[in-house]
Amino acid sequence: MMSFDQTIAQLNQAIQKRLASLVNQERPLSLYEPMRYALAQPGKQLRPVLLLLCAEAVGGTRDNALDAAAAIEVVHNFTLVHDDIMDHDELRRGRQTVYRRWDENVAILAGDALLVLGYQLLSQTDPRLLPVLLKIFSKSILEICEGQALDKEFEGRENISLADYFQMIEKKTGRLFELACEAGAILGNGTPQQILACKQFGAQLGRAFQLQDDLLDVTGDEKTIGKDVGSDLKEEKNTFLMIHARSHATPQQREQLQELCARHLQEQETLQEIISTFSEIGTLTAAQREIDASMADARKQLQALPASAAKSNLEQLIQKIVTRNK
Ligand code: IPE
Ligand code: IPE
Ligand code: MG
Ligand code: MG
Ligand code: MG
Repeated sequence: MMSFDQTIAQLNQAIQKRLASLVNQERPLSLYEPMRYALAQPGKQLRPVLLLLCAEAVGGTRDNALDAAAAIEVVHNFTLVHDDIMDHDELRRGRQTVYRRWDENVAILAGDALLVLGYQLLSQTDPRLLPVLLKIFSKSILEICEGQALDKEFEGRENISLADYFQMIEKKTGRLFELACEAGAILGNGTPQQILACKQFGAQLGRAFQLQDDLLDVTGDEKTIGKDVGSDLKEEKNTFLMIHARSHATPQQREQLQELCARHLQEQETLQEIISTFSEIGTLTAAQREIDASMADARKQLQALPASAAKSNLEQLIQKIVTRNK
């Protein structure tokens, strides 16, 4: 039997092969070059891998789900190309972001076209399942846009609650994980109960994933994560860390945080001091507790699935995500 690492490597390869051959057109260069650029550098491909494993975990095959898996990764890339404009970030997967390498107009259009490409891929799946897939894809992507809108609306505001925050991340990030897992279970012909379990599994995993992403923005190593560290602080995002710290800090700690965030945030020393302050306030422990709780919920959902190699791979994938540093 294949090991977990071998299985993931094989899935990553199958997905990348599908993505690499997608954009063959040459001209206009300013459209197709940036699209190819965005797809050429693979990320972790967690969403398509989850989709494929969920399909198998309910008894389906990989082959039936590969187009939808590729579609979800292309849609993910669309969100990233636009997100980097919105967040003014320079680095993505260790390289210049699309709008930095070209310009904003190029990135807007390349992102739009990637979204269409995602739908084109999706439309190649089993025609009997297509109507329901189109319905959940469209609903989810619209909700990702809602989450992204909330993320921007919340910038710089001091009256955002943790409830507001969770609603925002469940949309901007949770929905795509949720969609991946639900679509996988649908494509694998799972029972309604299995489809629901996979959907809820994805939602909880996505929630935990964004909390981790907020943490890595402060504690991560730029070379390892391949993205700008300190970006959320610079953009005055309402992350879990900022909201928690704001409501639990002493007046002195609040002042200290404000002073630190006004400094040059790329500096390792400043980030270290911010980490220490978060740690004193109890914010890092609170974030970790929240991540653990969501991950435990996610794990619980898997109990609804019969024992299989795919289920065991899903369990190991959670474990890998829990300890990720990129
Ligand atoms: C980045 O997602 C966007 C978030 C939801 C935090 P990933 O961390 O999955 O990005 P890649 O695809 O691996 O680069
Ligand atoms: C991204 O959230 C969510 C989406 C792309 C929809 P972030 O803005 O935190 O993602 P990163 O950190 O830039 O990858
Ligand atoms: Mg961003
Ligand atoms: Mg963002
Ligand atoms: Mg982030």
